[in-house]
Amino acid sequence: MAEQIIEFKVQRYKQGQPAPTYQTFKTLCDDNTTVLVALQDIRRDQDGSLVLRHSCHHASCGTCGMRVNGKEELGCVVKVLDLGTSTVTVEPMRNMPIISDLVVNMEPFYDRYNAVGMPYVRQSEYLDEADLAEGLEAYQRYENCIECNLCVSGCPIMGSDELYLGPATLAAARRVIEEPRGVPTKPLLDWVDSENGCWRCHVAYECNTACPSEVYPGDQIMALRRDLTKRKFRGLFGRGGKG
Ligand code: SF4
Ligand code: SF4
Ligand code: FES
Repeated sequence: MAEQIIEFKVQRYKQGQPAPTYQTFKTLCDDNTTVLVALQDIRRDQDGSLVLRHSCHHASCGTCGMRVNGKEELGCVVKVLDLGTSTVTVEPMRNMPIISDLVVNMEPFYDRYNAVGMPYVRQSEYLDEADLAEGLEAYQRYENCIECNLCVSGCPIMGSDELYLGPATLAAARRVIEEPRGVPTKPLLDWVDSENGCWRCHVAYECNTACPSEVYPGDQIMALRRDLTKRKFRGLFGRGGKG
């Protein structure tokens, strides 16, 4: 198994500090060491004041979002040696207030996201020939979004317009409109059809690249635009009209 001493350049910030700084640490990594585990090793062995957030260690809980060598990543699934750099730069997600070191305040994210009211479970896709277990009418599974905020961190519009609803929220709105499950869709369509809604996106798809969970928020925003355009034309020409 390969082993290598890797230097970590970690952004540090504590409340009251005028600006973030960087601190370097060295730690031994092997083929299986993830960025999250390396940071935990540093915290345990070198600096107990390093603050980071995590839970599941397997890309499910969405709590370990960070920027690794300038890219939005879940730290728990990025293998350090796979990065191929002798120095690994680790920073908190962008476009959210920093609480401490690598931990950002997720409240602005949840304020927007929860306003959509998307149910957490959806009907699961499964093969037509698959047997349903006795007593079940359908299989269900969780929605794809793990609420990690990485798309928000990667979105350049979020950095310049704090009122923008943002990729995760717009993608969640699109899921409700696609499959309402009892949630009213007209208010949602009105909400996203606004100055800070889906028309604000500049369609460069940084959010699709950042998302670790197959939500493809940029594609969902384009689908919303199509929904709104159809609605507008239906309004102009009536339900049976052209367009
Ligand atoms: S495609 Fe739109 S939502 Fe996605 S990152 Fe770009 S501006 Fe943000
Ligand atoms: S849309 Fe993707 S990147 Fe954005 S919060 Fe959900 S899982 Fe994370
Ligand atoms: S620790 Fe749960 S997604 Fe990384």
